[in-house]
Amino acid sequence: MRKPIIAGNWKMNKTASECAEFVSKLAPQVKDATCDVVLCVPFTDIATMSALTEKTNIKVGAQNVAWADSGAFTGEISAAMLKEAGAEYVIIGHSERRQYFGETDKSVNMRLVQALKNGLKPIVCVGETLDEREGGKTELVNKTQVEGAFSGISAEDAAKVVIAYEPVWAIGTGRTATDEQANETIGYIRSVVKLLYGKKIADGMRIQYGGSMNAKNVAGLMAQTEIDGGLIGGASLKPDDFAIIVNTAK
Ligand code: PGA
Repeated sequence: MRKPIIAGNWKMNKTASECAEFVSKLAPQVKDATCDVVLCVPFTDIATMSALTEKTNIKVGAQNVAWADSGAFTGEISAAMLKEAGAEYVIIGHSERRQYFGETDKSVNMRLVQALKNGLKPIVCVGETLDEREGGKTELVNKTQVEGAFSGISAEDAAKVVIAYEPVWAIGTGRTATDEQANETIGYIRSVVKLLYGKKIADGMRIQYGGSMNAKNVAGLMAQTEIDGGLIGGASLKPDDFAIIVNTAK
């Protein structure tokens, strides 16, 4: 049995002073959740959020992590900095990072190594663009991204990773993958993990769906056998909607 994990990805939204009201609305609504509840917030919100959520079942995550311990890497944030600020999870390789900030399978792999080395729980994002899907390349693209991300990672470490399957064409577009499309591709990703690490790790790995997941479509997606939760952008900014998503993920 895989425990579902619902993670909000706030992207570049909300300042630290906006966190308290959000937590006061969300926390009582999700206190009995049977899934893992995570909020991946901007770097500058992490310390505030971790203090605000200390006595709740809400965990805090970052949206990126540097691949080096420390040094001359202007603008980067290290794993040690994230941990000290209170982050437990970290998103790695989000398609917006790949698209706008030059993230590659290689840099995703280096960041994943660093997160694991420092005991952060990684959420690794993969997913195809619309052109790739329409060109029949969905499986190839996801396989390449998974193999790239996990290059050189031991089975023991791989077992600690959550994968988020996020078709790029579904992110922020309101155009969700159908339940069947999401289930099928996640099943395929699990088969890739199985080739890399064997059945036990593949069966245990939590693979989320992400891309316009919301309070209305969560039930259909979560009813699919392969889908172990969601990475939620827009709908995670609204506490009531996010609470519905969390409480539907049983
Ligand atoms: P969305 O974003 O839910 O707004 O589509 C999901 C994501 O990018 O993680």
